[in-house]
Amino acid sequence: MLINKMRTLIKVMFADGKGILAMDESNSTCNERFIELGIPATEENRRAWRELILTTPNLHQGIGGVILFDETVYQQQHHGAAFLQILRENNILFGIKVDKGLQSLALHPSEKVTSGLDGLRARLNTYAGLGAVFTKWRAAISITESLPTLACIETNADALARFAALSQEAGLVPVVEPEVMMSGTHNIERCQQVTTQFLLSVFRHLNQQEVVLEAIILKPNMILPGADCSMQADTDIIANKTIACLLETVPAAVPVIAFLSGGQSGDLASTRLNAMNLKDNRHANTPDGSINQQQTLPWQLAFSFSRAIQIPAIQVWSGVPERKKAAQDAIYRRVCDNQRARRGVYHQLPESPVGRAVTATQKQ
Ligand code: 13P
Repeated sequence: MLINKMRTLIKVMFADGKGILAMDESNSTCNERFIELGIPATEENRRAWRELILTTPNLHQGIGGVILFDETVYQQQHHGAAFLQILRENNILFGIKVDKGLQSLALHPSEKVTSGLDGLRARLNTYAGLGAVFTKWRAAISITESLPTLACIETNADALARFAALSQEAGLVPVVEPEVMMSGTHNIERCQQVTTQFLLSVFRHLNQQEVVLEAIILKPNMILPGADCSMQADTDIIANKTIACLLETVPAAVPVIAFLSGGQSGDLASTRLNAMNLKDNRHANTPDGSINQQQTLPWQLAFSFSRAIQIPAIQVWSGVPERKKAAQDAIYRRVCDNQRARRGVYHQLPESPVGRAVTATQKQ
């Protein structure tokens, strides 16, 4: 019963080319972004920024769900409605980041494990009572010449699976986020190899915990060369390698793969999502009406972006109240671009430069 409800919620959240807007930065990550832009790192500015995002006109047209950070759940408009009420009125579902961030992995000081399992069952029940319908847990793995270790992969995969089981038990759809990070000099083949190893481990652990795959959302990285690799890859190679990796690792029972953006610019993230969706014959049109020979992918390919939606807008806003409308226009534009990318009809506008990775701080 709960599982059927979760499956229906996933369908609703991703209907009509919609996706997820991640705005679940921890206070420290949000503050670091503010400091980079000269915005005072105060609770009031975090509230103002989140109000700006959530009151973006027509946000609901392309966003079916938002991921919130705990602080945001209890915030409200200046002299106005609670944020949760704004979401309800706009038919946007909300989820919550429930992990407690990255800690050093014991005996592996260069690697991280995500914390937050202690007390999670009680926190999940609180969020379910507030109306949350989904949850998110991020594991983050770095690539170097000698990393990641098997210990890091297995420990993080186990935590992701235990989170997902607890979340489904509470009736909340788990967004399972195993991120292989883009920072580093590694090439695209190494990213594919590590991501494949990590995803295989994640699904082995999910199966061990008897998590129902039909009621999860997978939030992986795309297969990309390291940000500092001298050999960058073109869109088609990235799309092909990402799809190949996912076909090898992700069971067809998973309904939606909603990518993280991981530090790609907004345009690049949309361009690459678009290219992948074009390879799915649900979206590809043949001009002469002939049968399309391209593969039909077993899952929907969608987005759950933070930086690729937020960064252009926060740069416009920079904490200046008079720039609110321009910043909201920037958010709405990125939302529409990603909705088009889901349908395989995104065309980058000539004036928007591509190729630049976003420098803003990595999320925690
Ligand atoms: P990015 O899209 O900026 O990678 O963030 C997604 C996310 O939710 C990371 O936890």
